[in-house]
Amino acid sequence: MNVIQVDTYEELSKKAAEIIINKVKQNPSAKLGLATGSTPVGSYKLMIEDHKRNGTSYEDIITVNLDEYVGLNADHPSSYRFFMDEQLFDSININKKNTHVPNGTAEDLKAECKKYEAMIDELGGLDLQLLGIGQNGHIGFNEPGTPFNSVTHVVDLTPNTRDVNSRFFSSIEEVPTKAITMGIASILKSKEILLLISGEAKAEALHKLLHGNIDESFPASALKNHPNFTVIFDKAALKGV
Ligand code: F6R
Repeated sequence: MNVIQVDTYEELSKKAAEIIINKVKQNPSAKLGLATGSTPVGSYKLMIEDHKRNGTSYEDIITVNLDEYVGLNADHPSSYRFFMDEQLFDSININKKNTHVPNGTAEDLKAECKKYEAMIDELGGLDLQLLGIGQNGHIGFNEPGTPFNSVTHVVDLTPNTRDVNSRFFSSIEEVPTKAITMGIASILKSKEILLLISGEAKAEALHKLLHGNIDESFPASALKNHPNFTVIFDKAALKGV
């Protein structure tokens, strides 16, 4: 595990954006695993700025997102497809056909999961997987107790995750109860993994990652088995523990 400590969220975003942009420059047809949530937003903004200023091209880049809510279609403002379009894809020269987010409104959700995992395998695995972390150590929507050998699957969201994510909805009742998520084994297939941890609310999760055991009760601990895993965290995430 490579550990990078920075002072602020802005520095964390800059560092992560640099790593992603370098990957894109080195390999213009790189396959990037992307995440939603608040944490990567700063990095996405910097990637857009760099694209506009320096012309870094995403023409042949392929992206694969971690997860999507069940029941929300691409037009729903709280869907992860909508989020990705708004926060990144619409502002860079990526071919939308090369951007993949699970289809949360698929009639046969199990078949959708199978198809998604097969797509990752057909791509030959991803080159770089970007991740955030939940307060309980979830990665993607893999909640505590998820087997480390899990592939893309449908999950029941925990009351805590629904509560934390209700900030993206008008009320908690609107937060879906299920999601499709890449599994822990799907995430570990990536050649490189970059985890971003920012803010005091994540302090306990960071502490467990740095000092705890590798155990299914803390999903992010699986990443410590990966040969090319980097965690970037800010000072606030070190507070209070
Ligand atoms: C997002 C995802 C989640 C988030 C995590 C942290 O696609 O899979 O695991 O990365 O919940 O969310 P934020 O960054 O909002 O704290």
